[in-house]
Amino acid sequence: MVSTSSQTLVNGRATAQVAALDRGLSYGDGVFRTLRVDGGRPCWWGEHLDKLKEDCRRLGLACPPPAVWEQDLGRLDLPASGVVRLTVTRGEAPRGYAPPPHSQSTRIVTVWPHEHAPLSEEGITARVCHLRLGHQPALAGVKHLNRLENVLARAEWQDADIREGILLDQPGQVVGGVMSNLFLWHGGRLRTPRLDKCGVAGVARARLMAAATRAGYRVEETELTLGDVYAADELFFTNSLILLWRVARLENRSWGTPVVSQALWELLHA
Ligand SMILES: Cc1ncc(COP(=O)(O)O)c(C=O)c1O
Repeated sequence: MVSTSSQTLVNGRATAQVAALDRGLSYGDGVFRTLRVDGGRPCWWGEHLDKLKEDCRRLGLACPPPAVWEQDLGRLDLPASGVVRLTVTRGEAPRGYAPPPHSQSTRIVTVWPHEHAPLSEEGITARVCHLRLGHQPALAGVKHLNRLENVLARAEWQDADIREGILLDQPGQVVGGVMSNLFLWHGGRLRTPRLDKCGVAGVARARLMAAATRAGYRVEETELTLGDVYAADELFFTNSLILLWRVARLENRSWGTPVVSQALWELLHA
């Protein structure tokens, strides 16, 4: 049973059912976006549609145009505070990996009510995950439907006080959070892992990098180790729903009064 408080449209029809032979289900052949709804409106709409289009292009998928998504959203009851998920798959197809030459994408829109927490003053507790991400440059940065590494990483802990986990790749470089991107503030620079081998390049990450650069911060996409993380003056996770979470505790390391987190949250929230 799907939660009764959610509403779903599949190809514009009010249903939560998708065909058993949809390639999104068979192979994870598709992409998705999760958006924050504030004041009854989806936040960062243009950026999310651009990212969806770019991720579709990376997989050679046809992305429905903005007007089609907007028509779908117009038929749903957007809550004052909530979440919208947009999914595109390569659609229904016969058996076999070969992408059909003339596939018809499946588009799914789901809306949930959700109370977004305000900026956490005290910061969150995070852990370092055991699971290591594999490298796949052809998919790096894309938010595709194959998220099994994230599922396994998130299954590593049940402690509700731990809000997020840090993911490393096989050689031990830092990639990001299980459901977010990671930023360090160190030596007056805002640093975030380069995502050319694996990981998801989030809209909140792009937005924070652009806004921080405009505001005069030095921003770097770079290789980062766990040593860099522990040495950071401040540490943050970002995604479209949480906006920005400051890390107060990571394993045995804790951080005191933050200096830049409030200002960065405001840049992201603006
Ligand atoms: C693995 C992963 N990385 C990063 C992000 C951040 O993406 P965005 O900023 O577009 O929400 C998400 C969002 O869910 C994610 O699941």
